[in-house]
Amino acid sequence: MAMHTVVAAAAALALCLVATAATAGAGAHPPAPAPVPAHDIASCLVSNGVTNFSLPASKSFKPILDSSLRYLRFDVPSVGKPAAIVLPASQRELQRAVLCARSSSLAIRVRSGGHSYEGLSYTSENHVPFVVIDLANLNQVRVDPASATVWAESGATLGQLYHALRLVPVPGTITVFDIDRRGPADLIAGLIHKWQYVGPHLPDEFYISTRIYFKPKSTNGGNLTMSFTGQVLGPKHLALSVLNKAYPELRLAESELSEVSWVESAAKFAGLFSVADLTSRQIGVGEYAKRKSDYVQAPISEQDMVKVARYMTAAPTEGSVSHAASWGQRYFLHNFDRLVRAKSKIDPLNVFNNAQSIPPSH
Ligand SMILES: *[C@@H]1O[C@H](CO)[C@@H](O)[C@H](O)[C@H]1NC(C)=O
Ligand SMILES: *[C@@H]1O[C@H](CO)[C@@H](O)[C@H](O)[C@H]1NC(C)=O
Repeated sequence: MAMHTVVAAAAALALCLVATAATAGAGAHPPAPAPVPAHDIASCLVSNGVTNFSLPASKSFKPILDSSLRYLRFDVPSVGKPAAIVLPASQRELQRAVLCARSSSLAIRVRSGGHSYEGLSYTSENHVPFVVIDLANLNQVRVDPASATVWAESGATLGQLYHALRLVPVPGTITVFDIDRRGPADLIAGLIHKWQYVGPHLPDEFYISTRIYFKPKSTNGGNLTMSFTGQVLGPKHLALSVLNKAYPELRLAESELSEVSWVESAAKFAGLFSVADLTSRQIGVGEYAKRKSDYVQAPISEQDMVKVARYMTAAPTEGSVSHAASWGQRYFLHNFDRLVRAKSKIDPLNVFNNAQSIPPSH
């Protein structure tokens, strides 16, 4: 420990001397440009024919950074910004961008749709200088109906993928609903509890998800709201007869159901006005939220569900609930070792990393 301190002090002293010397010499020669990493990467990119990039001093920098910034809590001054954002237009440019980032000693954050809950594609830990390689221009989706396969480049958004997928066989008309049920904690707890047993056992054509939230007392009298999103690959009457039998507590009414095409349902669930909006990258950007998601291994007991619901209504502010997630070994379970082996083979130097990425084995 003492040894390290001495070395660090010596290094600091050496830096001081260099700085003094540089200042002393400034009168005789024009000052050399400061070795700013962004500057290095800019000249590297230009000399390698990569022209679509933006530096922090540029007017275009913030709009490009914000273009896929889904969580506004990362859009504050205390969160470090990239030294450059590069938008390669081909695989060749992508390779050059990676090499330039490495030769400028910048960490690399690769951004596709920017949809990480923790902003991992446009932030770095511990203020490590980094570059964002934004794949927005590598977003081709090719569908081959004959073989029922799709080739999607990593920069494609889910909306672009869905827009292309309307070419695959699904029933012409499907049924969707998006409904709210409101009530005191005990009533909502019962509905959630039952949903846990209904959801997994519905026929494969059925999808039903739920969210529970609470708005301040002044507007809802202490009630919780549970919203249900449903999609049934079939007509209204099928949806009604199955759900009213399996989940009568939901009191689903025919007037709450709409028959739409599959791609219209994709737009509707994303909160968009039209199917064409699926191909826009700008929609849905920017919200102040903290999210986690996980799979529940066993149903939560009704007693515990009542406790959660009452806890939510007692909370002083607006909030919603989901279950806590954990990472790494606990998240990938028995797959984790296999992923580490693959990572060690493909990227042994851990060039592509973020706070939640799979580490190489050494
Ligand atoms: C760079 O790529 C972005 C994203 O597609 C595009 O909007 C912009 O026009 C491109 N800029 C240049 C100079 O090609
Ligand atoms: C709370 O829910 C109950 C029924 O579940 C309803 O009768 C009541 O009007 C609701 N209160 C408010 C303020 O929404």
